Amino acid sequence: MLDAMQPNDDAYLFKPETYAELRRPLLEASTLPPACYTSPAFYRREVQSIFMRVWNFIGRADRIPQVGDYFTIEFAGVPVIVMRGTDGVVRAFANSCRHRGALLLEGEGNCRAVRCPYHSWSFDNDGKLLVAPEMDATLGFNPEDWHLTPIRLESWAGFIFINFDSAAPPLLETLGDLPTKLASYRFEDMVCVRRKEFDLACNWKIYVENAMESYHIATVHRSTLSRQKGKPSEPQPSNGEYCGLFKEHQGTRALLAGDTGFPEMTHLEGLPATGSWYPLLYPSTMFGCTYDCMWWLELHPMGPDRTKLIVGSCFPRSTVARPDFEEVVQRYYKRWDISIPEDNAISELQQRGLASPFAKPGRLAHAEPLVHTFDNWVVDRVLGVQG
Ligand code: FES
Ligand SMILES: [Fe+2]
Repeated sequence: MLDAMQPNDDAYLFKPETYAELRRPLLEASTLPPACYTSPAFYRREVQSIFMRVWNFIGRADRIPQVGDYFTIEFAGVPVIVMRGTDGVVRAFANSCRHRGALLLEGEGNCRAVRCPYHSWSFDNDGKLLVAPEMDATLGFNPEDWHLTPIRLESWAGFIFINFDSAAPPLLETLGDLPTKLASYRFEDMVCVRRKEFDLACNWKIYVENAMESYHIATVHRSTLSRQKGKPSEPQPSNGEYCGLFKEHQGTRALLAGDTGFPEMTHLEGLPATGSWYPLLYPSTMFGCTYDCMWWLELHPMGPDRTKLIVGSCFPRSTVARPDFEEVVQRYYKRWDISIPEDNAISELQQRGLASPFAKPGRLAHAEPLVHTFDNWVVDRVLGVQG
């Protein structure tokens, strides 16, 4: 029986021949080898070749509306502070004191200055070192040289992204034509009304693959989303760091069948006026854009088999201002609070099955084109073929 076990050593995982079957056209292709979802070495390579080099989505700027508002994250092992400065600009910094490296802030909140819990070095909201007690005797110590370490942060339509690579191209260049395709949703005029976090016992790619195929809906969401009607989802052309599905249909996709909600946006044009858009912003953020709102699924990789999921819900400012908003929005929350745990549970089951030493690559259905596209995108980067 031992010869039925799949190889998972580093040499096997990092040679192009291992992916020969994945490289074939969709209907001839095999899936990624199971070890790509469990191997610490493969995960480390993903962090280096993907998450340390790309624009990583970290939510909305409206989460920190006031000067001094901040939140902290640990993204792919890097502790980060995101804070609104005295000039109103949102910036990101390494969450590591310039003295001896202590973590400066945890959680989220508002502060007039960032004061280190260890020896009280203090930094202003723009990251400048303000006070460093008892450092005047230290030879050649110039406070100007010891500001917080900035991390690149750029935004699009109220969404913020960070990049750990100083040589990466600008965010908007990376996104290609996606902002134009989605412009009529007017995300910049939306408000994030709820964020919900989940800790998942699965590899980040499992969750992306799930979100980018509709094959599982009839089974996993059989009593919920499968009752929504419409044409099959169609993969869309892309000239940026994204891929996406578009589904032509009537009525919002953010409610369960039978529920009624808010009026549809009247400013939608082109494809957005005829159905719903589901782009995957590589590597790990999925948007759901429909007639009356948008939601996002944001993944933070935490290890080969751990992922943090953040689900954000955004509605047009005019919808949020309605007197019935709080009452009606509960129906949307109900839809997400039922469907998302269904995806979470199946993703954790898939992780457990893939961790078997007897798990092998499988074959793909015609309804899984973007699973194939995404897995090839990952392998291109892990093997250094692209990016
Ligand atoms: S480590 Fe921050 S002040 Fe010493
Ligand atoms: Fe699903």
